[in-house]
Amino acid sequence: MTNQEIQSKILQLREFLNSCNYKYYVLSQPDISDYEYDLKMAELQKLEDENPEFADPNSPTQRVGSDTNIEFEQVTHKYPMLSLGNTYSEAELRDFDARIRRLTDKPFVYDCELKFDGTSISLTYDHGQLVRAATRGDGVKGDDVTANVRTIKSIPLTLNKDTQYPDLFEIRGEILMPHDSFERLNAERLEIGEPPLANCRNAAAGALKTQNSAAVAKRGLDCYLYYLMMDTMPTDSHFESMQMAKSWGFKVSEHIKRAENISEVLDFIEYWNHERENLPYDIDGIVIKIDSMSLRQQLGFTAKTPRWAIAYKFKAEEAASPLLSIDYQVGRTGVITPVANLEPVHLAGTVVRRATLHNADIIRSLDLHYGDTVFIEKGGEIIPKITRVDVSKRVAGAQPVKYIEKCPVCGATLVRNEGEAGSYCPNYQHCPPQITGKIIHFVTRKAMDINCGEATIELLYKQGLIHSPADLYDLTAPQMARLERFAEKSAKNFVESVRKSTQVPFARVLYALGIRHVGEQAAKNLVKHFHNLDNIINATIEQIAEVNDIGYVMAESIYQWFRNEENLSMVCRLQMAGLQFASNETEEDAAPVSDRLAGLNIIVTGSFATPQRRAELEKMVETNGGKLQSGVNAKTNFVVAGDKPGASKIAKAEKLGTKIISEAEFLAML
Ligand code: IVH
Repeated sequence: MTNQEIQSKILQLREFLNSCNYKYYVLSQPDISDYEYDLKMAELQKLEDENPEFADPNSPTQRVGSDTNIEFEQVTHKYPMLSLGNTYSEAELRDFDARIRRLTDKPFVYDCELKFDGTSISLTYDHGQLVRAATRGDGVKGDDVTANVRTIKSIPLTLNKDTQYPDLFEIRGEILMPHDSFERLNAERLEIGEPPLANCRNAAAGALKTQNSAAVAKRGLDCYLYYLMMDTMPTDSHFESMQMAKSWGFKVSEHIKRAENISEVLDFIEYWNHERENLPYDIDGIVIKIDSMSLRQQLGFTAKTPRWAIAYKFKAEEAASPLLSIDYQVGRTGVITPVANLEPVHLAGTVVRRATLHNADIIRSLDLHYGDTVFIEKGGEIIPKITRVDVSKRVAGAQPVKYIEKCPVCGATLVRNEGEAGSYCPNYQHCPPQITGKIIHFVTRKAMDINCGEATIELLYKQGLIHSPADLYDLTAPQMARLERFAEKSAKNFVESVRKSTQVPFARVLYALGIRHVGEQAAKNLVKHFHNLDNIINATIEQIAEVNDIGYVMAESIYQWFRNEENLSMVCRLQMAGLQFASNETEEDAAPVSDRLAGLNIIVTGSFATPQRRAELEKMVETNGGKLQSGVNAKTNFVVAGDKPGASKIAKAEKLGTKIISEAEFLAML
């Protein structure tokens, strides 16, 4: 392919993938299979890797984000980001309507929209390209979060080419975390011993401010746009501007309703007050806006809010029920979660029997007493939370709830670290739910992927056969076959699956150890940085904290974990069982790392001392900042040639006058 052919192929693939993305994430109408999509994406990725001169931050390949720490820059909004006046009452809504009618005698319509409960964002597009995404900040200045926003699949990076979008405009909307993403995130947090997040709004705002865009890409964020802004608008109608934005590629809610008068507005509010239960994301009200841009301009703003719009906020749906008792659950890392048992009560379409109380601080701030009638509310979570107590129903002499001081299972005195809201059981070596919890975590698919369920682990523990993950590697098939629910074949399968797990890569082994705060990504980063277990054990807290995305708290947790005798002896047994405690990339580790080849396009061709040696040399190009190419072109700076180099490559290099060097010369450059 000529350079021009490559470029046009790249552009064609990008356009194709952008349109697939739009159909999938904006219209929810995919028309190709995931497999086909992945193939095209891989094809584009390969072409971009081989032809770095055609790189583009808005290419669909860039949606995965990057691991480098982002420092957010402050940017000034072209148009300030104001908030809305809000109300909970119908009377105030009628006042709002009357006020407008006093200020104008022309007829007008309202647009009613869902008030998305996320975090607001302002996107700038220049000639169809996303150039900036900024948070609201203080309304005048916000944070530049473009790198993170690029990973949100429903936000177009490039607009639909065959539409008439304006050259330069801003569009505002809300970034939100849908319920399914939120539940997945909280399940992951619990897995690594971190407290669950309280609601989807906090989760969305937190994710957007993460300093690692690759992590944001995994959060499953979504974005609805609701406000087009530019110096000269393409239409006087907000409703029409939103339909235009939709055609350019933006996700615009289908639940926008034009209302002729305030009673139609109230109907819309009434409808969504119930129907919001069925939405896959949170809304906290309805926004009512004047449709006409010229009328908006005439009405203007007060100091902080526009006169042409108002937010009606829903009162959270709640139910009241008597508190029956409190259970204290002990997690894998010893974290205690208090859960209230309630008299069953209907709330938002389900019967609720339990509500989370999160931690001791929450119980205290609620001033909860035994036997109290409590109000519960549903956020994005399946388990509702207790929001307040109906003090009028408290019986005389009721005692305040006293938070447990000892572990409900093993009796150890609970510990509470300064600055942490929760308490935990420190007896991690002997507290049964912590022992089994750790082994269950160890065998999960993302960790050692050993084929057995929680019940098997509980059973093995009860029978006294396992106390630590290392014991799994001593179990024999005849021993297993003697257990109830096991037959000869299933016993064999189990032992085989344990044996197979010895080949699981080091990063997953490290994750499987269940060190507090260490999730899958952190384990990968640690392995990338330290390569083997000894290096991790010998590192100081400061050295660990130097690893990408690992803060001081996690570094300390890792450091302390490896200072514990029992942990070390378990690791020693796992090593003897043959588990992987080093990454396979030892050759690569030995390779120098620098930016000496930065900006250089390099090709490696021919055979070297061993087949691996060529791969090592190629890796060295990259680890020293060079770009590895697979074909010679005008941008190639030099060719590293071994024995029997590719004849056509050498011919082309000679024709273009590209330097051809030997392995020794290459090493000398480093
Ligand atoms: S219009 C001048 N429309 O609610 C402000 N806002 O307090 C124009 N929000 O900061 C905003 N859904 O973050 C608008 N459909 C919607 C909205 C919406 C949620 C948020 C937005 C704004 C806050 C208002």
